[in-house]
Amino acid sequence: MSMYEQLKAKLSHVVPDAELRYKAEIADEINRLKVERNAVILGHNYMEPVLFYSVPDFVGDSLELSRKAAETDKDIIVFCGVRFMAETAKILSPDKTVLLPAKKAGCSLAESITAEDIKHLRKRFPGVPVVTYVNTYADVKAESDICCTSGNATAVVESLHSDTIIFLPDEYLARNTARETGKHIIFPTKDPKAVDAELDYQMIGWRGKCEVHERFTVEDIKRAREQFPDVVVLAHPECPPEVCEAADFSASTSAMVKYVKDSKAEHFLILTECAMGDNIAAENPDKEMLRICSIRCPHMNEITMEETRDALLKTQYVIEVPEDIRVRAYQAVKRMTEIGGAGKRD
Ligand code: 13P
Ligand code: SF4
Repeated sequence: MSMYEQLKAKLSHVVPDAELRYKAEIADEINRLKVERNAVILGHNYMEPVLFYSVPDFVGDSLELSRKAAETDKDIIVFCGVRFMAETAKILSPDKTVLLPAKKAGCSLAESITAEDIKHLRKRFPGVPVVTYVNTYADVKAESDICCTSGNATAVVESLHSDTIIFLPDEYLARNTARETGKHIIFPTKDPKAVDAELDYQMIGWRGKCEVHERFTVEDIKRAREQFPDVVVLAHPECPPEVCEAADFSASTSAMVKYVKDSKAEHFLILTECAMGDNIAAENPDKEMLRICSIRCPHMNEITMEETRDALLKTQYVIEVPEDIRVRAYQAVKRMTEIGGAGKRD
């Protein structure tokens, strides 16, 4: 079957035919280049449907893809995701050439904290272990004890067996994890004279937010339930805690994919990047995915078929992590990959 026919079989009810024809040709070119360059392509669950279903060797959430990056024997890793994910691949596989198909592809969470911020927190709360969400840059990971993803945040916190924990930088993931682990969370102010350190706390958070998930509301859920009383609501744990509490299920992107596949329900509201709703709809033609496509991740959307082809053609954009930072970040990331979390979906 040609690439166009394969894509048509999977996506004809999700993507217009002209787009399928045009992108199928680019997909053929990418797959040819992939073999020529001895590359592996990793695709995050948020990639647009044609890319998602045509060129990645592996698709998944942050945790699954970092494990794949660590295992590969190919010369080149093309990371169809955002910069912090490609950096994590480089941290785990320093001898590989890691390519991000867009110049920036940032993330509001990764921009919300610096390595200096962690050093200050460590001075202010000495001896308290630092858990850092993988949505951060390498220099921030290097100052951390262990990383986590949305797929294993609770397991990582519990693995530390510590009464107190610093959990950075996503305020909402921290609040959601604090609720799950039964910990009382505080948010220190930037005022060094503040008395937070003397307060009773078990978890110390930061005020970073995902610019996509912070915009979903309980009202969105109410409206969907009015329209479809049987709707099952899935919310990513980067959503505000009241949204996760009003939802029926909250977990990593891959856990959401699996949940829909295993469920017998007919209507779902997917509170995460819209493209993932398209990808789930393609896989489950008998189920209806409600999604709010006015809310998009501009960073994930920088990764296109054209950019992915150019990444392989021009060997761009090469991800580098200074070795002194990489070796320290490696410890935190490696510890994370050793802790269980959402199951694999190969
Ligand atoms: P996952 O690890 O659940 O795939 O989430 C990554 C992300 O950036 C969500 O916005
Ligand atoms: Fe970052 Fe949010 Fe985009 Fe995920 S969806 S990459 S957390 S900005």
